[in-house]
Amino acid sequence: MSKVTIRDVDFSGKKVIIRVDFNVPLDKDGNISDDARIRAALPTIKYVLEKGASKVILMSHLGRPKGKVLDSLRMNPLARRLSSLIGEGVEKVDDCVGQEVKAKIKSTDKRIVLLENLRFHPQEEAGDEGFSKELASLADMYVNDAFGTAHRAHASTTIIAKSLPSSIGFLMEKEVKALSFAVSPEKPYVVILGGAKVSDKIGVISNLMRKADKFIIGGAMAYTFLKSQGIDVGASRVEDDKLDLAKKILDDAGCKGVKICLPIDHLVVDNIDNPGIKAIVETIGQGLMGVDVGTKSIQFFKDELKDAKTVLWNGPLGIFEKEAYARGTKEIAFYLAALVGVNVIVGGGDSASAAKKFGIADKLTHVSTGGGASLEFLEGKELPGIAVIPDK
Ligand code: 3PG
Repeated sequence: MSKVTIRDVDFSGKKVIIRVDFNVPLDKDGNISDDARIRAALPTIKYVLEKGASKVILMSHLGRPKGKVLDSLRMNPLARRLSSLIGEGVEKVDDCVGQEVKAKIKSTDKRIVLLENLRFHPQEEAGDEGFSKELASLADMYVNDAFGTAHRAHASTTIIAKSLPSSIGFLMEKEVKALSFAVSPEKPYVVILGGAKVSDKIGVISNLMRKADKFIIGGAMAYTFLKSQGIDVGASRVEDDKLDLAKKILDDAGCKGVKICLPIDHLVVDNIDNPGIKAIVETIGQGLMGVDVGTKSIQFFKDELKDAKTVLWNGPLGIFEKEAYARGTKEIAFYLAALVGVNVIVGGGDSASAAKKFGIADKLTHVSTGGGASLEFLEGKELPGIAVIPDK
């Protein structure tokens, strides 16, 4: 990592504005259902305070309010949770720019201030320079620790760095280091991909095709691959407009000597929510749809993982949110957690949720806090929120 990090900066007596990604899931009552992103930001916040910053001003988006003020997406629950996790008061202000905000930052006796949801202002997502300068005017220095939003060229993630001395925080550094290992891995390297759509993962497949020794593919995207080979997948979810693409990926892999492991049996149902038929089959019959990989596939995938030195896991192998269809994802998750001497890196989003749900996240080398950001990183794209930070 050649970027300036918070270790390289003297924060004493400075007001420091830190972009964090507090875009956490909320339940229907507005309660935080997973605070991993808040916890992940704590080391940077604590370090900057320990190094003598006079104020830490935190800013984030929450949800997609699209430039409107929505009470359901105010940052108040985040301030409360942060305060209890960090063990000191957090001053929550009701906007993110303007004189009142400045006055509050000056008058509060609290060391930590949390600004209101940045996306209540349309200028945030537009990457508006004037808005970024207003944010910059609140502080003397800028830190970007919002890996989950580093793929967005927004005012607070990217443009603001032009106005203040800037560095990256510990979370950003950790994410980049771990995901870089998935792009330049120790071999043998096995990539497990799942989820609904081939189209979501095509960039990752193309970038990693030159680096991986094998791909294990599950989830609904496997049915697109199987159908592209002329295999009947019944009523399973398929992207019909991606069949040629799936076939081309399989052909390319064949030419490059990269093994693609597709499921050899399937848990099928006639109705996802209320199944009359539920069975493990090798051939999917008319009207049935695959909802998870079957027993033989699970064993096949475990065998294919045996000699791996690096594993990247991105996407669930079945509809793991429903207990009845979670077995494939769960068994592979437990298998990965038990591997010794293997770097296991989990891309954010659904696979990170699965790792947390099955209680194995702590046993893996790295579980990314970024969904879209980790995908773009693994696609080999430069993330604007990192690119804008000066090199050492
Ligand atoms: C995420 O949850 O992936 C990040 O917080 C980015 O959110 P966005 O996709 O709404 O920009």
